Formats: sequence, C-alpha cells, structure tokens
Amino acid sequence: MTDTLELPRPDDWHAHLRDGDTLRAVAPHSAAFYRVVAMPNLVPPIDTAEAALAYRERLLAALPPGSPTVPLTTAYLTDHTAPDALAAGFRSGAFFAAKWYPARATTNAHLGVSDPAKLRPVLARMADEGMPLLVHGEVTDPAVDVFDREAEFLRTVLGPIVEALPALRVVVEHITTRESVDFVSRHPRNVGATITPHHLWWNRNALFDGGLRPHAYCLPVLKREEHRRALRAAATSGDPRFFAGTDTAPHAVARKEMDCGCAGVFNAPTAVAAYAQVFEDEGALAALPGFLSRHGAAFYGLAPSPETVRLVREPWTPPETIPLPQGGSVRVFLGGETLRWRLVG
Ligand code: NCD
Ligand code: ZN
Repeated sequence: MTDTLELPRPDDWHAHLRDGDTLRAVAPHSAAFYRVVAMPNLVPPIDTAEAALAYRERLLAALPPGSPTVPLTTAYLTDHTAPDALAAGFRSGAFFAAKWYPARATTNAHLGVSDPAKLRPVLARMADEGMPLLVHGEVTDPAVDVFDREAEFLRTVLGPIVEALPALRVVVEHITTRESVDFVSRHPRNVGATITPHHLWWNRNALFDGGLRPHAYCLPVLKREEHRRALRAAATSGDPRFFAGTDTAPHAVARKEMDCGCAGVFNAPTAVAAYAQVFEDEGALAALPGFLSRHGAAFYGLAPSPETVRLVREPWTPPETIPLPQGGSVRVFLGGETLRWRLVG
C-alpha cells in the first residue's frame, strides 16, 4: 500500500478568494497550492487591468508571509468588453485569462454576457492572442431544466464557437456531466476542463440527504451518479485535458442557510485530501500528480511547480467551520469527517 506520494506542489486552476475580510480569512487555506487562478466575480467585477493588478496586491497581502502561492487574476467578460483593452491586459500579465459568465448564471454574474453573439469579436481576438477563455458553461433560459443547462450550453453555444474558432484555448470550468467529458474528449488539446472535488465526491442525492442540504448546493448543481462516475473516470484517466480546479466558493453559513441560499462549496482546506481519496478509491493514485500538478500547467504552457511536496497517509479531521473576522463562519467541505491523506511540506 502506498503511504507517501511525492508530487510538484498542486495548482488550483479555479478558485473564489473573495475580497476584504473574507479574503483574509480564506486565502491562507489556498496557500497549499502553487498557482491559484482567482475568479473575477467580485462586486464590482474585475473587468479592467487596473482592477486586476490592485486585486493581485490584495491577494498577495492576504497570503501568509513566505507563501509559495502565485495568485493569477482573470478578466470578467461583459457585454462591453473591448477586445483591445482585453488583449492589452493579457499581454501585460494583468489578466491570466478571461472568464465568461452567462448573465445571471451564478453568484455575481448579473453583469455577465447577456448574449453570446455579442462576445464573438472578443473571442476572435482572444483566439488570435492565445488568451485562454474560462467558461461557466450553463444556459440561463429558465425554460431549460436546471440539470440540463450544462449539456445544453455545450451543444448550442460553446460547440459552435469552438468549431468557428478552432485556435481558441478554452477551459470548460467545473464540469459536471458525461456530456462535458465527451465534449472535451472529442476536441483537440486546446479544449480542457477543470473538475472540482465535490463533483467527484457527491451526486445530487447529497442535496436531499435526510433533508435539504444547503451546503451541498453549488453551481453547476450536482448531477446523477452516472455523471459523477464519468467525472471520476475522466479525472483519473491520465488524459491531460482534465485538471484540478477546486471552485472553492466560500459563503457565510447565514447566506447559505436561508430562503434563497447562495451557491458554492468552500473546499480550500480539504480539496487536495479529497482528490487524493477519490483517486485512491478509483485505484488510480499514480494518476494524481498529473491531475493535480502537471496537466493544467501543460495546458497553459507553463512548467509544473519546481517545489516537491508530499501527500502522506495520515488520518485527520478538518474543522466543520472556519470563523470570519466580520462575524459568522464558513462551512468546510467534508469538515468533521475523517480524511485519509494530508499534504505536508
Ligand atoms: C461560485 C461563487 O460562489 O462565486 N459558486 C458556485 O456555486 N460555484 C460561482 C461559480 O463558480 O459558479
Ligand atoms: Zn467558480
């Protein structure tokens, strides 16, 4: 039985680190990662290079002193994004990538893109520049069943875009369905996907396990078991187009346990341990360093972390919540349960 696994320090290619007091409380929990791609869905959104550079300073200030973590900031696409300004922000390094939220698809997405057609000139420019597009892939039409919105988006919106712009580098974020695995698998290497620990861990029954479970509610919403199985197969397959993006998305407990609770799972403290446990349960621990530390870097044309860390088999129990300095707390994914693996050094 393997008890120790050496790997380059993992990367988190999709994280919500928030801002202000919440940022200061949650950022240290992402410091186990090397690169952390910070999502731009703040209020107001990060949609200029200046805003991205200022946010990066706040991210760095919130990380523990001496932390190896490199925060990467992204641009929030709107109906008004100007191709030239976006490209300049990418060239200067202020924007690592651009994030497409369909308007109202998720938390703080009300200023997102209202009509995919409006984005065509921006996407064409991104393809020319080699600027990666990170997509929240769900249609927002209320007539479409919430469990079908991801598959519908790939079929009717993203599919035609990648056909028309074959050079565009696209990451389908936090995929949740077999259809998404198939979509990525049948495209060339410039189309990749992130997979979260919670979509590998839970199927949609977790939302209704003995009662309504707001802390299992995230977007895209959890799906059927057959989809979880497809995600586990893709993540553990060794296919370099699938890589880790935790989608850690902290919300105060009071904002989740309410009439219209927020979507999001805070998994930064437990994500690496959860991924390791999933891979071990699938008999695929050997594929874990690729998924956590190499595939995403290769997708983005970067080297893996030069620093080696160890995962050790050492049972531990994460806290159920972490406190917020402004009052209240955030529930931790798998908090209070015993996990088998721990990242050290
Ligand atoms: C995210 C958030 O809270 O910012 N929530 C979530 O459920 N994943 C937004 C997102 O990535 O959809
Ligand atoms: Zn997200």
